[in-house]
Amino acid sequence: MSANIIDGKKVAQLTRDEVRKDVDDWMDAGNRPPFLQVVLVGNNPASDVYVGAKTRACKEVGIETDTMRLPDTVSAKELKATIHKLNKDDSVDGILVQLPLPNHLSAHDVIESIDYRKDVDGFHPMNVGRLTVGQPSFRSCTPAGIIELFKHYSIPTKGKHAVVVGASNIVGRPISILLNKESGEQGKATTTVCHKFTKDLTQHTIGADILVVAAGQPELIKAEMVKEGVVVIDVGINRVADETKEKGYSLVGDCDFESVKEKASWITPVPGGVGPMTVAMLMKNTLLAAKKSIYPE
Ligand code: GUN
Repeated sequence: MSANIIDGKKVAQLTRDEVRKDVDDWMDAGNRPPFLQVVLVGNNPASDVYVGAKTRACKEVGIETDTMRLPDTVSAKELKATIHKLNKDDSVDGILVQLPLPNHLSAHDVIESIDYRKDVDGFHPMNVGRLTVGQPSFRSCTPAGIIELFKHYSIPTKGKHAVVVGASNIVGRPISILLNKESGEQGKATTTVCHKFTKDLTQHTIGADILVVAAGQPELIKAEMVKEGVVVIDVGINRVADETKEKGYSLVGDCDFESVKEKASWITPVPGGVGPMTVAMLMKNTLLAAKKSIYPE
């Protein structure tokens, strides 16, 4: 059996089309366009690529955006003062500080300085806490995108065993919470979260009905580590040297796609799986921020 492919590029386009329509309706009702302020510290090439994708998506859906570039020498005090100004600025709906930050800056402190009502990344402890207790919140974009993929393809999660590999604050932990949720339409899975201290990874992955891999390790998951019929969500985007490619590298996920797809019932490709959904969900969150839907005034 070869797996059905989960087409994140297609679902992301549908999501952006939906946001475009909602933005038009919002503006037809007499409101100004939503505005997303991106803050980019330093010169991380991967961050440039991600911010470029976010900016293009904003243009497509009618969200206005600006990228504030700060030098990698910026102090925590200066950066937080900049964020406090944006917090107070009523023309700014969403604030996104692109990660990673240079080593001298604490991502925790910087994220916490963002007004949680403008935290379209869903990283602020207020949003993470509310997500955990089942209160409305901004949801981290990649996990929210994964849930959207399950919905789109009507892939059931209720009663399933979901195994998450990777326990990051951005992906692993929040997706484990969303999949485990007891209320609402989605979730209701039993979840296991594995991380770098997990002793025998295969012992856990082999029992997964749903396997979400966000470990940042190229082709960590091999066919022999999964069971027949598993649903595989591969969040990894790893550059590996490839002389046959003009750029000198190719992108691979955290799963050995070619072998795993022969056992899986559904699988996300890399690229074109989860990645585009992250950006599409950011558009959704920015519109929610503009509408003050989650935190009414
Ligand atoms: N760096 C990697 N992923 C993300 C993300 O989703 N948001 C931000 N702000 N930075 C990131």
